[in-house]
Amino acid sequence: EKRARQAMQEAHQLVSKLYHYVLTETPYGVEAVKYLTKRGMSQQTLTEYQIGFAPDSWDFVTQFLKKRNFSQDLMVEAGLLAKSDAGKVFDRFRGRVMFPIHDSQGNVIGFGGRLLDNTQPKSQPKYLNSPESLLFNKSATIFNLHRARPYIRKRKQVLLFEGYVDVVSAWQAGFMQGVATLGTALTEQQARILRRNVDSVVLCYDGDAAGQEATSKAIHVLQQAGLIVRVAPLPQGTDPDDYIRQHGAEAFSQQVLLQAMPITAFRLKHLRSQYVIKDETDKTRLIAKAVDIINELDSPVERDLYQRQLAEEYSLTLGDLKWESKRAYNQQ
Ligand code: UTP
Ligand code: MN
Ligand code: MN
Ligand code: MN
Ligand code: MN
Repeated sequence: EKRARQAMQEAHQLVSKLYHYVLTETPYGVEAVKYLTKRGMSQQTLTEYQIGFAPDSWDFVTQFLKKRNFSQDLMVEAGLLAKSDAGKVFDRFRGRVMFPIHDSQGNVIGFGGRLLDNTQPKSQPKYLNSPESLLFNKSATIFNLHRARPYIRKRKQVLLFEGYVDVVSAWQAGFMQGVATLGTALTEQQARILRRNVDSVVLCYDGDAAGQEATSKAIHVLQQAGLIVRVAPLPQGTDPDDYIRQHGAEAFSQQVLLQAMPITAFRLKHLRSQYVIKDETDKTRLIAKAVDIINELDSPVERDLYQRQLAEEYSLTLGDLKWESKRAYNQQ
């Protein structure tokens, strides 16, 4: 098992270099470089992140690994190659921009591959990740942690993004304390790993319905791990990469990161966005739900602050709201 792991490791290291070489030094990479440049990625970023390109071929990597005497079955297991039902082995990643994924020591253990926009066939997923293997345990891996760790510790804060492109884009704009999960929901294990490095997380998920849902789930997991959580507000329909490209680093810092909300504020905002208020009945129901959210706070001072805001927002007397709040609390 140890030898198998070592061989997988070595193959990933070599293939990562190969993909990067194809992107930056060969005609096969020209279109992908154009695509990445159009997305605003600098040459320096391509080098720093060892971004690469998997040529649109069925046997480019297959031949490369064969020449170096790697076992095909092992390479299929590692997810660099794939095997058809008929037993034919072929390249798993074809015609994709490749993002190497590292373990916390900086070894390449997997890849995320993105199709170029113009070549996107509807039958293929936009992103294809390496499968779980002896080497790559998705639920225990955090994208970019090995690079971001010193910055996370220095800033005493980690930025958690949904996509690796968001991490790369933020890094290029000067926000180096960013990490991401790997196309899956945040796991308890990932939250515990973050907790070992920092005590405060800013969630920067996409400003779309999927991002909001993922935010609600991540809040819970992060809090369970003992982390302080804030939620950065992204405008509807944009993600951090879009935002940075449209508005720049300064705006991202001032309008997004510095506006990060404590989770109660986020939950109250999320609640308001879910309800259409037509009459007093709707309003009363919304206030009751808001009261429940506020009652979950342990600190009486914090409860009082949010109760005052809510009372003001709906032109209620603080006394009435506190009475309502106590009643709701006793009903639990
Ligand atoms: P998004 O659609 O928001 O992707 O999905 P993105 O990161 O903004 O990518 P670009 O900007 O279009 O290149 C969020 C995350 O969901 C996972 C990926 O991890 C992605 O970063 N995902 C998405 C997949 O795993 N497969 C997919 O086909 C799509
Ligand atoms: Mn999204
Ligand atoms: Mn996105
Ligand atoms: Mn997108
Ligand atoms: Mn995006």
